[in-house]
Amino acid sequence: MTIANDTVNAANGVHLLKRRSSHVDGFGTRAIHVGSEANPETGAVIPPISLSTTYRQDGVGNHKGFEYSRSGNPNRDALEATLASLESGGTYALAFSSGSATTATILQSAGPNAHVVSVNDVYGGTFRYLRRVASETQGLESTFVDLENADDEAILSSFRDNTKLIWIESPTNPTLRLIDIPRIVSLARSHASRPLVVVDNTFLSPFYQSPLLLGADIVVHSLTKYINGHSDVVMGAAILPSHHAQLAEKLRFLQNAHGAVPSPYDSWLAQRGAKTLHLRMKAHGINALKVAQLLQSSPYVEDVIYPGLSTHPRNEIAYRSLSPHAKKFVDKLRSAVDADGNSLESEGGFPYGGMVSFRIKGGAVEANKFLTTMRLFTLAESLGGVESLAELPAQMTHGSIPEAERALLGIGDNLIRLSVGVEEADDLVRDVEEALEAAVGGDGKQVNELH
Ligand SMILES: Cc1ncc(COP(=O)(O)O)c(C=O)c1O
Repeated sequence: MTIANDTVNAANGVHLLKRRSSHVDGFGTRAIHVGSEANPETGAVIPPISLSTTYRQDGVGNHKGFEYSRSGNPNRDALEATLASLESGGTYALAFSSGSATTATILQSAGPNAHVVSVNDVYGGTFRYLRRVASETQGLESTFVDLENADDEAILSSFRDNTKLIWIESPTNPTLRLIDIPRIVSLARSHASRPLVVVDNTFLSPFYQSPLLLGADIVVHSLTKYINGHSDVVMGAAILPSHHAQLAEKLRFLQNAHGAVPSPYDSWLAQRGAKTLHLRMKAHGINALKVAQLLQSSPYVEDVIYPGLSTHPRNEIAYRSLSPHAKKFVDKLRSAVDADGNSLESEGGFPYGGMVSFRIKGGAVEANKFLTTMRLFTLAESLGGVESLAELPAQMTHGSIPEAERALLGIGDNLIRLSVGVEEADDLVRDVEEALEAAVGGDGKQVNELH
């Protein structure tokens, strides 16, 4: 295939047109059915894996929608249709070979000598790309702003004439700061440079948060996390609303030109994972709330960060930011009463994703003991899989951030991040309880000796 053909392919929007999908059905129904229609030739209910790199043409340019697998293939197409449907308000979806490749492509689309305003607590890989790649290769400048706490004036003063993008993550990693997305969207709209608002929605997944419905222009996901959900695929995606056809086309062109595309097999796996996203996210949220409540009541814990806890200072924003389907789920749970007459609300919170961070009493020694004592939580990086993981951000995921900056962000040696999985909640709670006892309470050590 020639470059000219690639360009024509993207410009014709051959694959873009297929992104249009229905939002009529409920979230779980869309997860299972959109992009997963029975194969018209064989009747196979599950899409076959199409490994062919090239597709026969009946005459030059006369094909069935696919020419060369980098430009498009049935499995990536099917996954993209699922993603466009799951990210409420989305029309166009583009899958990439990682979340990082997605980020790089979007930042590159800003063009030369542009300026980006980013949340200061952004994912380390995004920070690295902004500061060490985009700055050198496309002269892109970036300003990091505390988009959670800065007032409107301070945020607006960070915008320049050439500000093309505002980059948001909410909640942030690992301190789960919440950005009021509609507020940032309205500030962006009020500024002459009209920057686009990009939201990395990896931590909450399309189940808990729908940034496009809150006015965002692009949603980014590391599919590696919740959407695939089984810790066996590295992949990313960008999703855009219907009024961004041109931008979607530009990203489609770059997707093909860079070639950072996922394989058909990985696309198939991620689509299979996405079919249970709604079930997994509900279970992650319920389990995480229970673990957060246990941590909150533990004498061995300094503080717990889980925006779903009613004691979290931005709990009200967390509730407001819930997607319509998550709100329905949360409201139903809140009104439900158990056999003892206790409602979830009276227990002090609601499910809000599966990530919980906390500061253990003591320091690196206690944190390390806790992490190595756990039986069910595996000490490992990453998040969003069905199995529970735990890590020490200061030495693992955020180890490359200078200590002084880490301190400013609240990432000390005793901050532990949990990715709460979907095992039985009671087992996870017991695991955390026993590891805390062993790390802080054990060996005859008195808690108050530590402070
Ligand atoms: C919030 C967030 N965005 C993007 C990425 C990058 O995704 P990937 O590892 O799939 O490149 C990560 C990875 O940890 C992440 O946590």
